[in-house]
Order: sequence, then structure tokens, then C-alpha cells
Amino acid sequence: MPEISDLRDAFARRFGIHPRLIVRAPGRVNLIGEHTDYNEGFVLPIAIDRATFVAARARPDRTVRVHSGQFDAEDSFSLDAIERSTEHPWSNYVRGVVKGLLARDLPIVGADLLIESDVPLGAGLSSSASLEVAVGYALQLLNNINLLGEELALLAQGAENSFVGMQCGIMDQFMAALGRAGHALLLDCRDLSYTPIPIPPDVRVVVCDSGVRHSLVGSEYNDRRAACQEAVRLLKVRMPRITALRDVSPEQLQANADLLSPEVLRRARHVVSEIWRTQTAAAALQSGDLARFGALMRQSHESLRDDYEVSVPEIDTLVELALHLPGCYGSRITGGGFGGSTVSMVRIGAVDEFTAALAEQYRARTGLEPRVLVCTPSEGVSRAAAY
Ligand code: GLA
Repeated sequence: MPEISDLRDAFARRFGIHPRLIVRAPGRVNLIGEHTDYNEGFVLPIAIDRATFVAARARPDRTVRVHSGQFDAEDSFSLDAIERSTEHPWSNYVRGVVKGLLARDLPIVGADLLIESDVPLGAGLSSSASLEVAVGYALQLLNNINLLGEELALLAQGAENSFVGMQCGIMDQFMAALGRAGHALLLDCRDLSYTPIPIPPDVRVVVCDSGVRHSLVGSEYNDRRAACQEAVRLLKVRMPRITALRDVSPEQLQANADLLSPEVLRRARHVVSEIWRTQTAAAALQSGDLARFGALMRQSHESLRDDYEVSVPEIDTLVELALHLPGCYGSRITGGGFGGSTVSMVRIGAVDEFTAALAEQYRARTGLEPRVLVCTPSEGVSRAAAY
């Protein structure tokens, strides 16, 4: 984790003055409920103890200057002309959020921002959502604006949808804003109501970054989303009242399978079954039935691999290796897919051996260097310091 005093000093060196405040917003890992958020279904993520930090100070003019420690680069733009940057793609998350605040007629002044993060990039842990939410929250505090966590999450999601061009759902931004220490949130992505579910003290959430990144993630993701919309459009012929796959039960999908092409049917089958699995898994977690929870994680992975087709061989290898190790209840791909990370639920006493063996066996099988993180469920966005 970046030291707060280092961030303050780095800001002072860069901008010649101390920051007014520093905020942090976490990344997330989803335990189950993948590709369900944009179908108005359920997800069950935790916010993690990896976060993006933004040190910030208001300016008397309408300029935003932003320095990224991760990219060692600086960008600057005017509040009066916010366009996409091709030179600094990382800055589009910042630009999109600022534009979103202005579009709501919120009174924003210019700012100096310094960004640091220990959320690994491209690992499926929502580094971008944590950046969006951290920037939005910092600007909110600097300008004395009162936004609810839900509003901040929606604004950040809107920035990513319309400014970055990724048609993501609400899960990642919601967790960056509203994650709860020690808990997963069962989030209903239709109305944003949620139930915090405690993570049992004798289990650890272990993330393993495969090191594989696919470059077409954004377009593949948008294709999956389009297939879900296509399924709804076709099913409406017989089920005119549905508005999302959330409204379709596994039995109804089966009975109307003839309306869909084989590919669209597979995509819809994943979503409809995953929504059911997520609700069932939340109940299992609540009652401490980790064996049942783990079995549902395994089914989720198979469905994402075979029906939704968002896994890759290296991730399948990680899941298979994890499931053979002692103390592992369940393991699956997590996040958008096409590379990224797996998540496993592991008995606390077995964690050290699990992480060592998983890394060693993955290295031996693939020649790739994995990165294993044992995650603590953490709070959503907060102020880390004020001066
Ligand atoms: C990405 C998106 C989320 C969600 C997941 C898949 O992380 O940003 O909104 O759709 O993929 O569950």
C-alpha cells in the first residue's frame, strides 16, 4: 500500500504545494455472479485491500492537472473542453468522471490530482472503477458536493460507458463506492438494493492473477452484452413483459430455446443459471455452508468456460490446480474474463500451502509467473487524510 506521507510529499514535489486531502477507493473481486450485472441480476463481490489513492487540491482556475504515478505521466485539460485523450488513455477515466460531474450541473473548479494505486492493472480486479470512484470522491470533497454512494457509482459507470467505451455494468463502481469491511455484498443490480453477508472467519479469499491479458477485452465484452440483449429481444415474442434476462427462469429459457440461435442460447443459459447460482450461493455463505458455496463456484466456472466462453486455457489450468489442493472449497474465473484472475475460497489453516503450491504448479505447467493475493474484504471509498 502506498504510504500516505509519501503521497503527500510526491504531490508537493510535483505541484509545489501540499494536497488538501487524500482519498482511497478499493478494487474488488467477485465471488460469484459473473456477467449478471448488466442483465439486472445479482452479484456477490467483496471490495479488496488494494486501492487507488488520489491526492488532491482545488485550483482557482478551470484547469485539471493530473499525474499518474503508475504511468509516470502527466495530463492536463480544461473544464470547458473535455475530449478523449489518445495520448494518455489512463486519463480518460479521470476526464470521463469530471465530464459526468459537469453534466449534472455540479459546480466544479479546477484541481491538481496525483494518482497512485496498488490494484494490479488488467488483472480483473477493477483498477479502472477504483480510479473513477476515487477521482469522483476527491472532487466531491474538494467542491463540497454531497453525492450518495449509489450516485457516485452510477456517475463513475456512466463515465466508463460513454467516455471510455466499455459497456460495463454497475458492480465494480458500486463496490469501489460501497464495499463493506469483512463482508461480501449480495447486490441486486436491478434496484441497487444489497445485503451484506459476512465472510466466515475461518476462510480466506485468494486471488490468482494468471498474467494473461487479452487485448480485445472491451469489444468481446460488448459483444457478450449485445448477445444478452438479442436474447431478450427474441424471447419477447412469447414473453412480452420481460425487460432483461433477470426476468427469465431457467425453465422458461429451456421451453423457448427454439427462438434463439445456438450461440445466443448458450450466452443466455449462462446468465439465467448464474443469477440462480448467485442467490443460492449467498444463502449458503450466510449459513456457513462452504462446501455448497464451493460447488456453486465450480459450476459458475464451467458455465463461463463452456456457455459464455470468456475463459482462457491458463485460467482453466489455475482453476483445475486449485480444486485439487487441500483446503480449497471452490475456485473460478473472476471479473470480465479473457485472461485476468481466478478467485478461490480456502480454509484459513491451508492458505500458506495453497498459495505456494498453486504458484509453483502453475509456473511448472505454463511457464508463466502468477501473482497470488490473499484478500481482506474492505470498506468502499473513504478519505485517507485531510490537511
Ligand atoms: C467487468 C464489468 C462488470 C461485470 C464483470 C463481469 O468487471 O466491469 O460490470 O460485468 O465484468 O461480471
